[in-house]
Amino acid sequence: MILNQTFQNVQINLDFIIYFPNIENLMQLFDYLRKGQPPSNEIKEIIAIQLLEGLNNLHVKNIMHRDIKPQNYLVCPSKTYGFTIKICDLGFASAVTKSKSFYLSKKGTDAYFAPEVEKGQSRIQSDLYSLGLVLLELDNLNELKENWIDQSTKTEILEGRGIASKYQINRKSNIYKIAQICLKKDYLERTTAGDLLSELIKLHGKPLKFTLTSMILEEQIPQQAQQIFDRINELQKNMQNQFEEYAKHLLDNTNSKIKNKDANQQFTKVEVLSKLLKSLYENKKYANNFQILSFGSYGMVLATKKVSFNSKEIVLKIQKIVDNLAIENEITIMKQLKEPLVVQLYDSYIIEQATAPEKYVVFELEKCSCSLQDYIERQGKEGEFSDEEKLIIAHQVIDCVNYIHWFNIIHRDIKPDNFLVCLDGNQPEIKLCDFGLSAQLGNSESIEILDGVGNCAYMAPEILTKKENENKIYSKKSSNIKRDQNL
Ligand SMILES: Nc1ncnc2c1ncn2[C@@H]1O[C@H](COP(=O)(O)OP(=O)(O)O)[C@@H](O)[C@H]1O
Ligand SMILES: [Mg+2]
Repeated sequence: MILNQTFQNVQINLDFIIYFPNIENLMQLFDYLRKGQPPSNEIKEIIAIQLLEGLNNLHVKNIMHRDIKPQNYLVCPSKTYGFTIKICDLGFASAVTKSKSFYLSKKGTDAYFAPEVEKGQSRIQSDLYSLGLVLLELDNLNELKENWIDQSTKTEILEGRGIASKYQINRKSNIYKIAQICLKKDYLERTTAGDLLSELIKLHGKPLKFTLTSMILEEQIPQQAQQIFDRINELQKNMQNQFEEYAKHLLDNTNSKIKNKDANQQFTKVEVLSKLLKSLYENKKYANNFQILSFGSYGMVLATKKVSFNSKEIVLKIQKIVDNLAIENEITIMKQLKEPLVVQLYDSYIIEQATAPEKYVVFELEKCSCSLQDYIERQGKEGEFSDEEKLIIAHQVIDCVNYIHWFNIIHRDIKPDNFLVCLDGNQPEIKLCDFGLSAQLGNSESIEILDGVGNCAYMAPEILTKKENENKIYSKKSSNIKRDQNL
């Protein structure tokens, strides 16, 4: 879809006029620019920022691209600078298929692959290495012609002897500073797409004319609040429609009713969201930019680094307080659960002055890689889900539920979205999260609550089929996990 769009005459505000029909990807753009006047540093930096932001959008969700090269960045027309460079997200499926060439990479067929990829180990930081080569090329289009990445250039970087030393390239530019970090031979020294993106934006020093989608920038808060607000609303609408359809389908043969989660518990005003995001910057607890991880059904989830934790990465789950008792309940429950089977709550606090009269709670949580739902979808798509791995996950899922039942805690919203996956070790580690609907049983074995809560798709029959005038009986057994077809 995007691929068929071509450039029209686009005049942009800077010292750069774009007129090129039929440019579809970054490789074609590079070829085009090599023939004419090279772009200004300002334009090159804007392109570099967009390349990093595209990658960061994937990396915050722990998705590896695995095939970063100029051909895999699309050049789309836009009003801001005349162009926007995107990693195709709808076309991402094809990028995933292309990533199968990752296996070919062991034979060293692709110039942009990181050294560890050529040895058969692909890591998220391998994308940064590839991007480093693309950035060097962008910065030195007239010097680095097609096929400039030869074996001697790669070996030199691998041995830490230098970067493209046989070429006359600009070694003082801002882009070079970033590329240097990307091209570290040790993948652990390459930091992250988010860090590099915020570093380059700082070095660039001028306000951007486009709004970032992967990370919150202090100077962009008003536009970003609007963007997030629109996305949440759209998501909410879709969820509501899906919920109604599903509930109707499920309940056709029963005379019971299910209540959906209350949409008013979300952010209801852009200005409040804006003030809330500003207050996160102002309280100086966090060292880093805020990366946008997800919008849940109740709130917003951001990743950042906590200063007093040695700048360790943590996750902030922020939600509006509608019912004080419910929040206290969630905190009390989470504080008891200290095993790795449950996502850890480091701290929590309330924001009330900045957002008055509304109140928000911030949960500081252990950071995981993605939700089990996202993991299942991704592994399914990539065809890399072995029975062995499914079994490892299934064991842990059962273990998590068993663990909280020891404390007489009923989760009441068990579904793949509410398990998190950590991908740092040799095998995926599963943790249960989101205790917003949980309840702790007293002495009796079950509790009675009038309204059904949770996601109806995963609900046990005794909750689903209760009559209007009956109380719902929740017991630990109601937390059954639907046997997902993928698992
Ligand atoms: N600690 C975390 N690490 C990584 N991702 C998280 C973390 N907590 C939440 N998320 C992401 O945010 C989503 C929503 O979080 P959740 O706690 O389930 O809140 P909600 O009540 O909004 O459903 C999760 O499905 C997951 O994708
Ligand atoms: Mg959830």
